[in-house]
Formats: sequence, structure tokens, C-alpha cells
Amino acid sequence: MTAISVRNLSKSFGKKRALDNISLDIQRSEMVALIGASGSGKSTLLRHICGLEVGQGGHSNIEIFGRSIQNGGRLDTKAREMRRGIGVVFQQFNLVGRLSVLSNVLLGNLGHIPVWRGTLGLFSAEEKKAARAALARVGIPEVAWQRASTLSGGQQQRAAIARTLVQRSSILLADEPIASLDPSSARRVMEILAAVNRDEGITCVVSLHQVEYARRYCPRTVALRDGRIVFDGPSTELTNRMLVELYGSNSEELILPDAPSQPVKPKQLPAQDLAPAFA
Ligand SMILES: Nc1ncnc2c1ncn2[C@@H]1O[C@H](COP(=O)(O)OP(=O)(O)O)[C@@H](O)[C@H]1O
Ligand SMILES: [Mg+2]
Repeated sequence: MTAISVRNLSKSFGKKRALDNISLDIQRSEMVALIGASGSGKSTLLRHICGLEVGQGGHSNIEIFGRSIQNGGRLDTKAREMRRGIGVVFQQFNLVGRLSVLSNVLLGNLGHIPVWRGTLGLFSAEEKKAARAALARVGIPEVAWQRASTLSGGQQQRAAIARTLVQRSSILLADEPIASLDPSSARRVMEILAAVNRDEGITCVVSLHQVEYARRYCPRTVALRDGRIVFDGPSTELTNRMLVELYGSNSEELILPDAPSQPVKPKQLPAQDLAPAFA
């Protein structure tokens, strides 16, 4: 089943054409990398998919599991409700720093419970249990009571992923989730995304600045340049040589020095991370 279907999506900011007639289908349970140099349109595309922005022109259309979220430049009346099923993770983590990590993860429930309960922070024992299980799932059960602002970048990103698990999203859009992380935290976050994709079947679209991570963790890559799709296919086919052809001198931005050009099989998560369900 098609999880995300984008048709004829264009968007300009002033004279800048950020997205130029994008059409794209992503199937349920796919793990797709979205790569491209800065300014190529990755964030803009992700923001359209989750209904934070609307396209231009009468023919643009985005469907999520066969239901329109926006069409012809207008958000569907169901867009708000549909957004609940789409978890979003950003480069800058977007946690509330003064709240505990557990409270941040509990905020993933907001779309599912009455507003007054969320506002007062009144979460049920079951919801708290699910939030703790989600933290265990991403490998940081021990930081539940710490203030979010005290966590390392890698831990904050894992907490942000835990929040999308509590949200019970069936689609996870991650916009450069590893851009602010050191290489070992970056690998850990990518392993967690790959694990939730594999084990929970969550459809993942991850924008990445560096193609090495796309090759390593995502079977399929969509490459953008100047708002257009210039490659869409198996990540293994995206060789460094092809990147140079596609991006010219900008390709340096996308290729890590000494990066293996062959894919590396993702590591399995340790057993203790996989055990607790977050149902
Ligand atoms: N809100 C905005 N206002 C004006 N220009 C924007 C806005 N958002 C994005 N752009 C422009 O659109 C282009 C694509 O941006 P973006 O989607 O952020 O690229 P990426 O995420 O790949 O770095 C860039 O030229 C950027 O400057
Ligand atoms: Mg961006």
C-alpha cells in the first residue's frame, strides 16, 4: 500500500523555486533517504508531506495512505487529524528543555487525549508505562526523570523518536536528524530509526546531508537538486561518481572523506533495546 503519494508538487518562495513539480510514491514500511545539498528542498518537501505547508498550482496533491492531506494548494479539512499519524523529528530535537524527558515523551499523546488532560499534564498510568517503554526502546530508560536540557544531543534525538512512538505514528519524517550529532551518536540514531522501521513497520523518510548514511541504512534514496528529483532508486546504485555527475562541485558536501562507497549492513540493536514493547 502507498503510504505517501506526492503529485505535481511545486513551491516558490519569491523567485526561488524550492520544489519544482515533484511526484513521488513511498510504500508502507519503506525506509527512504532524502538527500541533497543545502537548499535543495529537503525540508520544504517534508513540511509539505506533513501538511505544515501547502503547494502551489491547481494540480498539486499529497495523499497519506490514500487519503488526501492537501490538494490543489489547499489543506484538507482532515489534515490536522491526519498529522497525528505522522511523527516528525528535527535536527534541533525540539524537546521542551525544562520538562523531564518522560514528560516530553508523554507529549506524544496530545493528539489522542482531551486537551484539558494534556494541558494539565494528567497522563494515565498506562500512558506513563508506554512512555517509559518507548524510552527503553530507544535505549535511554535511565534518563526518564532528567530535565531534557541536560541530555546530550544524541539522547535528545532518541527522546524525540520515543515521542513519535508514543504518538503511534505510522509514518516518521526525520529532517536531518543526525546533522548536529557526533558520528557515533549519529550511527546510533540511524540504527534506532532502522530498527523501528524494520520491527514496527513504520514508514521512514529521513533527510540526510551525507550520502554515506543513506547507503548504510536506507534501501532507497531520493536525491533532490534545486527542487527536482534527480535520482530515485536503490541506494547502492548511488555511487560517488554518480554524485559528482549529479551535483558537480556541490557533491563534496554529500560525500564523507574516506567513506566506503559500498553499503554496510546495519548493526542489530542490542537485545535489551528490543525487548520492551511500547504498545
Ligand atoms: N520560508 C521560506 N522563505 C523563503 N525561502 C525559503 C523558505 N523555506 C525554504 N526556502 C528556500 O527554499 C529552498 C529550499 O530550502 P530547504 O527546503 O530548506 O532546503 P534543504 O532542507 O534541502 O536545505 C532554499 O533556497 C531556501 O532558501
Ligand atoms: Mg533542511
